[in-house]
Amino acid sequence: MTDDASTRLTGQDLTLSYDQRVISRDLAVRIPDNSFTVIVGPNACGKSTLLRALSRTLKPAQGNVLLDGQVISSYPAKEVARRLGLLPQSSIAPDGIGVADLVARGRFPHQSFLRQWSAQDEAVVAEAMAATGVSALAERSVDELSGGQRQRVWLAMVLAQQTPLLLLDEPTTYLDIAHQMDMLDLCADLHAEQGHTLVAVLHDLNHACRYATHLIVMKDGAIIAEGEPATVVTADLVEKVFGLPVRIIPDPETHTPMIVPVDRRGTRRDHD
Ligand SMILES: Nc1ncnc2c1ncn2[C@@H]1O[C@H](COP(=O)(O)OP(=O)(O)O)[C@@H](O)[C@H]1O
Ligand SMILES: [Mg+2]
Repeated sequence: MTDDASTRLTGQDLTLSYDQRVISRDLAVRIPDNSFTVIVGPNACGKSTLLRALSRTLKPAQGNVLLDGQVISSYPAKEVARRLGLLPQSSIAPDGIGVADLVARGRFPHQSFLRQWSAQDEAVVAEAMAATGVSALAERSVDELSGGQRQRVWLAMVLAQQTPLLLLDEPTTYLDIAHQMDMLDLCADLHAEQGHTLVAVLHDLNHACRYATHLIVMKDGAIIAEGEPATVVTADLVEKVFGLPVRIIPDPETHTPMIVPVDRRGTRRDHD
């Protein structure tokens, strides 16, 4: 295991707040290099807030986020965007922008006065659209897409950024089950084949257990468990974090933990 000093993305003694409202206090977080880290936790427990801090979108009230050994706020914005891409939980596209133009914005951090739009940028954009299955939408306006199509277009934009670190806030939320699996397989490939470090917030615990190499479980702004899903996920933990009694069985496909909520209707009927 590497220590904080050599890990690419860490947070130390973080206090995260909106004005006076503190969401997390004394939070320490380490994203293992080359991991597919998944963050889970109940609604409003502070997952997005943590991702915002890790991507420099939110300035910690106290403590530091370190990117490649330096305080993240000390980098120029473009330099952060070359190292780390963020897919926010909800994004608003500029009015009337086309799909290909939005994805092309992922190339901005790589451009400068001296290095303008190139054939390579064009190829990267085409590749990102193909990987997310949105090539056929290239000429459409982002406004007129479905929620799921739009989410894949935003992911294409983040992929076009070609960053070694990717932070994805609920990338599967608006997707049907087939597109959810496509999205997670794509993330797994980025991680396994291209060595990217991924951090994703997911709601589906079974997906989290299938795909995460490192699971971070949050509650009330704190990290209360982390590690390999097979070690971390127990019925006790799920009940403690989500207040839901469950059984854990092996996923018949992957043998990772599978969470099955206890059927409470039967017991209720018994009392009728
Ligand atoms: N921009 C904001 N201003 C004030 N409070 C916020 C803001 N964003 C989130 N919060 C609050 O911070 C808490 C954590 O939110 P969030 O990190 O979005 O939770 P999660 O992503 O785990 O659902 C919630 O109580 C939420 O209402
Ligand atoms: Mg959130």
